Amino acid sequence: MPIKLRTKGIACVQTVLVTGANRGIGFEIARQYLARGAEVLACCRAPDKAQGLLDLRPRYPSLGIFKADMGDFSSLESLAYALKDKKIDLLINNAGSYGPKGIPEGKSYQTFGAVDYQIWSDILRINLQAPLRMAELFVENVAASAGKTIVMMSSELGSIAGNISAGQSYSYRSSKAALNMVTKGLALDLAGRGITVVAMAPGWVRTDMGGRDIAALSPAESVAGQISVLASLQLKDSGSFVDYRGAKLPW
Ligand SMILES: NC(=O)c1ccc[n+]([C@@H]2O[C@H](COP(=O)([O-])OP(=O)(O)OC[C@H]3O[C@@H](n4cnc5c(N)ncnc54)[C@H](OP(=O)(O)O)[C@@H]3O)[C@@H](O)[C@H]2O)c1
Repeated sequence: MPIKLRTKGIACVQTVLVTGANRGIGFEIARQYLARGAEVLACCRAPDKAQGLLDLRPRYPSLGIFKADMGDFSSLESLAYALKDKKIDLLINNAGSYGPKGIPEGKSYQTFGAVDYQIWSDILRINLQAPLRMAELFVENVAASAGKTIVMMSSELGSIAGNISAGQSYSYRSSKAALNMVTKGLALDLAGRGITVVAMAPGWVRTDMGGRDIAALSPAESVAGQISVLASLQLKDSGSFVDYRGAKLPW
């Protein structure tokens, strides 16, 4: 069934491209949009090992599974070529990294005095540079769609104003703070084409990154909230930093 991406004027059969769709929040985004009747282009590093997505395929013919490694831009360019004429209403740059470990173990290589600079570079490539590269590669697909929306999966840990407790997680925090700046720049650059760009904070979610025992929200709760926030987004909201409940966050 067709669903609305915006409250005003645009009713469309929605096509969603989501990165990092094989597990965690990205998988849940794919699952929930499929359940709402959308076509989902689910991107991941290893499609043949994405068992959760593969299990969904018999039920959802509108699910496409594609290879996209955020650390290897040639794979993103191949993806863009394969999807050249596809209209994409919603591009969700969800794939992200806290380094090789989740929270809290991953703090060990991004705390003052113990920063691993190679891991930091890898995190910046995946969390910061790849989302911008994706926007460059898919801007025509988004511009040609009815929905015209790009989401950068950010984090409350990327808020400079919100960082009042400790400097820890330098690598991850800085990647998301810089992603917020990229979001703002893209919103300005793409406004003339009617494209809405937002940074989304999904909350603290029980995933491999967020911590399966300690985080507050299930992926289903976070994603249901995100989808309802995205459904009411308009161009005037472009360039904002919002959370899964729709609250505007301080940069
Ligand atoms: N969980 C939270 O509490 C929380 C809070 C704030 C923000 N976020 C953000 O939400 C997004 C999703 O996080 P999550 O909690 O779902 O984490 P997750 O369970 O660790 O999943 C991360 C996803 O990103 C993918 N990914 C990592 N490196 C990649 C690469 N080089 N190329 C392609 N895909 C790559 C992973 O794929 P592989 O399986 O191939 O590694 C996986 O699909 C991230 O951007 C994260 O920063 C999460």
